[in-house]
Amino acid sequence: MGAEAIKKIVVVGAGVMGHGIAQVCAMRGYEVVLIDIKDEILQKAMEKIKWSLNKFVEKKRIRPEHAEAALARIKPTTTYEGYVEDADFAIEAVVERMDVKKLVFSKLDQLMPEHAILTSNTSSLSITEMGRATNRPEKVAGMHFFNPPQLMQLIEVIRGEDTSDETIQAVMELARRLGKTPVLCKKDVRGFIVNRILMPVFLDAFWALHKGEVDKEAVDASMKYDAGFPMGIFELADYVGLDIILEVGKVMYEAYGDRAKPCPIVEELVKEGKLGQKSGAGFYDWSAGRPRIPFDRVGEWDTDRSWAVAINEAAWLIHDDVAEPKDIDTAMKLGTGWPLGPCEQADKMGLDKVLSKLKDLYARYGLELYKPCPLLEDYVAKGWTGKRAGRGFYQY
Ligand SMILES: NC(=O)c1ccc[n+]([C@@H]2O[C@H](COP(=O)([O-])OP(=O)(O)OC[C@H]3O[C@@H](n4cnc5c(N)ncnc54)[C@H](O)[C@@H]3O)[C@@H](O)[C@H]2O)c1
Repeated sequence: MGAEAIKKIVVVGAGVMGHGIAQVCAMRGYEVVLIDIKDEILQKAMEKIKWSLNKFVEKKRIRPEHAEAALARIKPTTTYEGYVEDADFAIEAVVERMDVKKLVFSKLDQLMPEHAILTSNTSSLSITEMGRATNRPEKVAGMHFFNPPQLMQLIEVIRGEDTSDETIQAVMELARRLGKTPVLCKKDVRGFIVNRILMPVFLDAFWALHKGEVDKEAVDASMKYDAGFPMGIFELADYVGLDIILEVGKVMYEAYGDRAKPCPIVEELVKEGKLGQKSGAGFYDWSAGRPRIPFDRVGEWDTDRSWAVAINEAAWLIHDDVAEPKDIDTAMKLGTGWPLGPCEQADKMGLDKVLSKLKDLYARYGLELYKPCPLLEDYVAKGWTGKRAGRGFYQY
């Protein structure tokens, strides 16, 4: 089934992500069924959607009648029966637990028409496993939105081991019809693209702090005011939530071994109840709002080393045939607001310089995190050192 045939979408889970996804679909003219386990949750979700639609009206991005029509297209319900039998597409956004997700997929599979595509918004779980809880694994894919879905442009589309080309094309096209930019993650790997590249950037900074080599202000001031990142590394970690970073870190460690060895500093903070912005404290104190990152600390952190570990992970994604340079760059710019994608930055810096930075760090710390990806060694050996050489990750 192509995306043009999709008229009715089921969104399961009406929490932080689900209500926003339902709103995005309704704003683009789709009929939406929004499912959760309790009426109160659905009521709150509908209130939040109303509030957000009003904001769009206030900012003159949509007309009031458009907002009303969008709201009227969303049908909240705690039961599937009578709502999903004629739907064409589903987006699951329930709690991040495989057992719950499998139950949801199996239920949707039993009730939805044969042609329907089922997707998951999971951040860390296996799409393949969810697909195998249905009788249509070829019609199951990942559709990873970013928070808040109403405003964030990026969607990572993930191919499970059994997903068909037709399904991938339909999901990519639906993402475009929702006004978003999809990037393709060709394999069902943990962390997909964005979280996988963020992981080493966080770890490098966490380890440096843990070893007492830097303080958080030095790192964050340099990344923000010098390298042009929208947030400092520790500021971003607090914003995401240190409990989430801890959990994702465990998943990554299991998937990638010593290359993703977690730094104990995060667990220590979580044990103290310091979860970041949401608990009022994390690396920073958030009790009086967003922390002020002092401008005069710029230059005390080597921002090239943050880039080097990000570029190394991008090289692994290409080496493992998970993603193309263009998609990696788009994902990082739209998903995290980076000024350049890691592949673009590598070609600008010079891959030879990146490689020698990684080798220095590896020799200094002995952490697998810094071990250069063979693809990077190979490119440099071939003379593909970037823009000046006419070829790096891209051809010029
Ligand atoms: N929060 C983020 O920034 C973010 C970003 C991208 C992806 N995700 C992913 O999106 C999914 C949802 O995350 P969230 O932050 O919206 O969580 P959340 O806790 O805000 O919402 C989850 C919702 O699922 C509902 N739910 C639980 N079991 C259910 C069931 N059996 N049937 C129907 N509904 C059920 C809960 O009542 C809750 O309303 C997770 O897989 C998460 O990994 C989250």
